[in-house]
Amino acid sequence: MVNYKDLGLVNTREMFAKAIKGGYAIPAFNFNNMEQMQAIIQACVEAKSPVILQVSSGARKYANQTLLRYMAQGAVEYAKELGYAIPIVLHLDHGDTFELCKSCIEYGFSSVMIDGSAHSYEDNIALTKKVVDYAHQYDVTVEGELGVLAGVEDDVVAEKSNYTRPEEVEDFVKRTGVDSLAISIGTSHGANKFKPEQCTRDANGILVPPPLRFDILKEIEKRLPGFPIVLHGSSSVPQDLVKSINSHGGALKDAIGIPEDQLREASKSAVCKINIDSDGRLAMTAAIREVLQAEPAVFDPRKYLGPARDRLKELYIHKCKDVLGSAGKA
Ligand code: G3H
Ligand code: 13P
Ligand code: ZN
Repeated sequence: MVNYKDLGLVNTREMFAKAIKGGYAIPAFNFNNMEQMQAIIQACVEAKSPVILQVSSGARKYANQTLLRYMAQGAVEYAKELGYAIPIVLHLDHGDTFELCKSCIEYGFSSVMIDGSAHSYEDNIALTKKVVDYAHQYDVTVEGELGVLAGVEDDVVAEKSNYTRPEEVEDFVKRTGVDSLAISIGTSHGANKFKPEQCTRDANGILVPPPLRFDILKEIEKRLPGFPIVLHGSSSVPQDLVKSINSHGGALKDAIGIPEDQLREASKSAVCKINIDSDGRLAMTAAIREVLQAEPAVFDPRKYLGPARDRLKELYIHKCKDVLGSAGKA
């Protein structure tokens, strides 16, 4: 058993309390390799932003549980070496079983998500409470989920979203003891969040997706004053990255995300954690495709992973400064 405190990590409790009070959201950036981790830490140190390093179960299998533990510890030391010890959380994204959450806690995670949203309401409560009871013994914080997001959640694919029912949130939080709650208000996972036919067009012909359900968010906030709310599926799918990928041999179709101004607005509310994975994948892919097309003779991975890391860093700084408002809050 490794305690996250010995690795220099923190849980989400104080981070979220400050974020709600300050009207900003903490970035939760997914990672599974060294370049992504370096970019996240470089960006958040430069922006002086607290950060959540987020690992899905697929990412954990990909990277290896033992390596991840040392990578997280390395991230803490790396931030100090770069000159600013930002608070860092290591968080399990979309944990689907008690055993996975327990194993992550044993390997140094400071926060876990138990996503029981595919289960019945009562089964979700029972599973979430079991994880909370275990995690809290080690001062590890737990995120639960009510409502279903459309799109791919790791191995779970939901065709249609089910918005969170505000009338359930108080009962769920009280009976499970969770520290934060992921809700469904119109975001979804992946780079294809909306079909073009669901969108309207602005004066420049740019597709505008349907707005997030801020009315549901407000109702939830009314019922759970000051309680930390989490938004998954919050990539904006920058169209310059999509264009670059497609003009360098890629084939992304109908890639549409959540407009950044809506995420900015959400960050000012009780939404204090915003999950971003797909935008990072797009930034990396665009940079790698650009290098490989411009320089076909390149075969040293550093020659394309280095620029990919730089592109990621630029994206993450932008998210902290201009979207989530977390810059300067560490
Ligand atoms: O919500 C899902 C995350 O984007 C993680 O995706 O399961 O492909 O690692 P992944
Ligand atoms: P995106 O696919 O919109 O980046 O969402 C990531 C996420 O919610 C991870 O849990
Ligand atoms: Zn998610």
